Amino acid sequence: MSEKFYITTPIYYPSDKLHIGHTYCTVATDVMARYKRLRGCDVMFLTGTDEHGQKIEDKAKEAGVSPKEFVDNIVEGPRGVKDLWKLMNISNDRFIRTTDDYHVSAIQKIFRKMYENGDIYKGVYKGKYCKPCESFWTESQLVDGKCPDCGREVQDAEEEAYFFRLSKYAGRIQDLLENTDFLEPRSRVHEMVNNFIKPGLEDLCVSRTSFTWGIPVDFDPGHVVYVWVDALSNYITALGFDNDRYDDFEKYWPADVHFVGKEIVRFHSIIWPAMLMSLGLPLPKKVFGHGWLLLDGGKMSKSKGNVVDPYILAEMFGVDALRFFLLRTFPFGSDGNFSNELLIQTINTDLANDLGNLLSRTTAMTEKYFGGRLPDGCRSCAAPESFDAELTGVVSALPERYASAMESYAMHKALDEVFKVIQRANKYIDENAPWALAKDMEANGARLAHVLYNLLETARICGVLLSPFMPESCGKLFDQIGAGDSLRTWDSAVFGSMPEGLKVSKGENLFPRIDMEKGLAELEAAEAAAKKAALPDVEFEPQLTENVDFDTFCKSDFRVVKVKDCQPVKKSNKLLRFTLDDGTGTDRQILSGIAMWYKPEELIGKTLVAIVNLPARKMMGLESNGMLLSAIHTEKGEEKLNLIMLSDSIPAGAKLC
Ligand code: MSP
Repeated sequence: MSEKFYITTPIYYPSDKLHIGHTYCTVATDVMARYKRLRGCDVMFLTGTDEHGQKIEDKAKEAGVSPKEFVDNIVEGPRGVKDLWKLMNISNDRFIRTTDDYHVSAIQKIFRKMYENGDIYKGVYKGKYCKPCESFWTESQLVDGKCPDCGREVQDAEEEAYFFRLSKYAGRIQDLLENTDFLEPRSRVHEMVNNFIKPGLEDLCVSRTSFTWGIPVDFDPGHVVYVWVDALSNYITALGFDNDRYDDFEKYWPADVHFVGKEIVRFHSIIWPAMLMSLGLPLPKKVFGHGWLLLDGGKMSKSKGNVVDPYILAEMFGVDALRFFLLRTFPFGSDGNFSNELLIQTINTDLANDLGNLLSRTTAMTEKYFGGRLPDGCRSCAAPESFDAELTGVVSALPERYASAMESYAMHKALDEVFKVIQRANKYIDENAPWALAKDMEANGARLAHVLYNLLETARICGVLLSPFMPESCGKLFDQIGAGDSLRTWDSAVFGSMPEGLKVSKGENLFPRIDMEKGLAELEAAEAAAKKAALPDVEFEPQLTENVDFDTFCKSDFRVVKVKDCQPVKKSNKLLRFTLDDGTGTDRQILSGIAMWYKPEELIGKTLVAIVNLPARKMMGLESNGMLLSAIHTEKGEEKLNLIMLSDSIPAGAKLC
């Protein structure tokens, strides 16, 4: 039976659309899941969304919808979480939403179990709460009085609550962290032990009463379960723990690895193991805390307005190029500075130049010199050159070097190994100068065929190893080489496995070179357009803070007026000329710059409001005596204007006060 491999991403908060930082972790998990499948493992790859908590309740209220409607839109709606994973070619086997019924009832059972075994008790919570992080803190844990995770303001919180006896597990957790390789990278161990365990692990508040958007504690329904208890348990409920929806808990638990961002390592390496200990369940084999993608040195966040939209990047540069860039550029355990320049540069150097050139030159020459099919005997060579052995040597050693990096979650190192080989292969082209060999096919044809075989075989093996990173492009690479399914497997990544005589056809250029300046300008334009589209539906002029005294205000004479006639003003595309009945018996003429919003004929007969004691003003040679009042706002970046219209029953001349 094949070895099982259970891997998870954190489940995402659908409080905003996901950005490139979230995409990074999910792509990394997908690459690892695909790699393990390639190695023949029975993989379970879980992702999902963490949908409860006060922040979501508040956001839904702001948006004027129910919390469930709010999360449904971000998770299932257009360009939402599920759409993004589909676009990014994420191969998750399961997707959990913490609002799913089976999860909700399983959490109630889990909470009750920990209560019944004495690990959860009722008390009063007094302390600080960080709403965006949904985290409780003691005074001593704050940094400069702010949340130690995100640096934002915290609030005083005091309420009756249930507590989990985290303190009871401090010793076992410290032992787990210090004496096993449960948590990686190792630097995160010191952080956890020194910052959280050594100062004294306090019991954890695990229920709230001040809001309702959460899973009710079934034996005390005024309380909802703390969102982290709800969220962390997803890793077992999604396998069927305490529910009938799935039944592979026995098969897949414990998880082989939880990939998580560094700011949530505390929850995964302290609270989660303690919960599992309380439930008497085996612990996950590993928690890997990856770094953040930074923008201009800071963490991306919607509230800071510095998020990068993965949709734009994927649509502009291709899904595989983006997937590749994320893992090639940033060592998985460390922070990395994201930039569009770096993205384009990586695509050009590694994909267009190194990999793209190897494939296009090799397939083009196979077509040109051999009509796309290398002759029999090309696998061997009567008079090998020293560089043949050099190339076959590095290619043969590659799978093991690559696997050793992948097994320690150093995806960037695995890619580094592959690209060293690709660069060696490009050098091999120059060393052999096939174009020179081709000048005398009779004398050199066999040698040329051998050179091309070696190159195609190198490209194929690199394709196998790159396929977890760029599944679609590697499929095209195999098609061009003529390598069928059996030549795309891990076991086939042995130099010389490729039979002679496959049909090679140079196809489309897999990774076209991007002009840096043009690419950056296009990105900027796409980002600006997306920002505009995402603008809040309406925007208003800010209210003036300077007061106007009452007597001055009373000097403004607002009157009800009726439109007797309305005409466009010649040579002006802005102005309309109104003839108004203002109740005095003499017609009043007002010019108003509203032609963009109204056709003159639709205003005739309407009852409007005008200020009538402004000094007369000339526009386009016509006199304007007053101003019509309108309401102005901005909608999706576009200015909108509505004339103030009153009931026609109000007589012209009535004063407004
Ligand atoms: N809902 C919790 C996780 C619960 S898991 C039981 C949560 N959600 S989150 O949506 O805020 O973040 C999900 C993941 O995205 C976290 O691992 C977080 O570190 C990661 N990232 C968010 N911004 C990031 C970057 N800028 N860079 C890299 N990863 C980042 O936390």
